[in-house]
Amino acid sequence: MQMGSVCELRLTRKRWTICTIGLLLIFYKTKERARTNEHQEAQLTSENELSTSRLLANSSDFRKNLPAYLQGTQEGWKVNATLVSLIRKDILHFLDAERDVSVIKSSFKPGDTIHYVLDRRRTLNVSHTLHSLLPEVSPLKNKRFKTCAVVGNSGVLLKSGCGKEIDSHDFVIRCNLAPLAEYAEDVGLRSDFTTMNPSVIQRVYGGLLNDTVREHFVQRLRLLNDSVLWIPAFMVKGGEKHVEGVNELILKRKLPVRMAYPSLRLVHAVRGYWLTNKVNIKRPSTGLLMYTMATRFCDEIHLTAEFRLRSRLAPAGAR
Ligand SMILES: *[C@@H]1O[C@H](CO)[C@@H](O)[C@H](O)[C@H]1NC(C)=O
Ligand SMILES: *[C@@H]1O[C@H](CO)[C@@H](O)[C@H](O)[C@H]1NC(C)=O
Ligand SMILES: *[C@@H]1O[C@H](CO)[C@@H](O)[C@H](O)[C@H]1NC(C)=O
Ligand SMILES: *[C@@H]1O[C@H](CO)[C@@H](O)[C@H](O)[C@H]1NC(C)=O
Ligand SMILES: *[C@@H]1O[C@H](CO)[C@@H](O)[C@H](O)[C@H]1NC(C)=O
Repeated sequence: MQMGSVCELRLTRKRWTICTIGLLLIFYKTKERARTNEHQEAQLTSENELSTSRLLANSSDFRKNLPAYLQGTQEGWKVNATLVSLIRKDILHFLDAERDVSVIKSSFKPGDTIHYVLDRRRTLNVSHTLHSLLPEVSPLKNKRFKTCAVVGNSGVLLKSGCGKEIDSHDFVIRCNLAPLAEYAEDVGLRSDFTTMNPSVIQRVYGGLLNDTVREHFVQRLRLLNDSVLWIPAFMVKGGEKHVEGVNELILKRKLPVRMAYPSLRLVHAVRGYWLTNKVNIKRPSTGLLMYTMATRFCDEIHLTAEFRLRSRLAPAGAR
């Protein structure tokens, strides 16, 4: 499958989100490793640390912005299965995505108190609504896919025509409930796993305060077609009323989604893994969480990202 021949990425300065930021860190991690190993550096033009990640890219602008060792790697790309399995094992020391992707029903009862992951002094009470939506078992239980796509919502895919290409993956992860219907041609429609920060409800769906925005939201969730909606509900205080509103709406309208809420240890585990690779991040972005988790159940991970941000983020990410 040649990504290059089908779709083209247009770089745009306009919009970017946390979903893409994590992907940039991956390149820094990769670079760090490459630097420490000259022998490997020699192999970087064909098979490298990014064997698990292929890029959906084509424009010359895009190529110019790639780290030197990635330029000219678009053709003849092969996955190094040994390396994939090494990375997977390495990450498994820190987290098991199958377990940490979501809390499950048996972890809590209604009325239990949860300490927010990034603000331990504040607490949340598990409501009946939340509890009733918790999955019985991990949504990734025994899952294994040949190809996965992690699709950001940076706008980099607009006018790309990449939709079909993205939809052809065995598992498509989408970030932050980005709009789909209007851009199907460029971003595709297939959704297997969609993340949504609680803040999206305020920012994009007016807090679900009137019928118009509620309907808009319901239409978006219908596109999930019974796939996973992943809400990081236990990170920091502030989004709880939005999460509750979403949960109530899902129950009331019997919307076709399967809920997941990341475990309380996921963020720390992912951070721990990247720290050992000299990537110091206070709080992993959605994109980085998705990539790291996907190594557990995907043989190949294809990423979309906006590389213009690289320079902006490098100093913090690379140290
Ligand atoms: C995309 O890349 C392929 C292979 O490198 C090239 O033949 C094609 O012309 C490119 N398409 C565009 C639109 O740049
Ligand atoms: C695949 O990766 C492993 C581990 O880094 C490396 O030892 C091996 O040489 C690689 N295989 C190829 C064909 O490059
Ligand atoms: C959680 O429940 C306890 C006891 O029912 C109550 O005192 C507390 O205020 C609640 N906390 C929140 C954040 O709602
Ligand atoms: C509903 O809320 C949205 C977002 O706050 C606002 O833009 C829109 O005008 C409201 N519509 C109605 C009918 O009140
Ligand atoms: C919805 O999911 C079903 C079952 O996975 C699939 O066969 C169907 O193609 C999906 N429909 C859309 C519009 O994605």
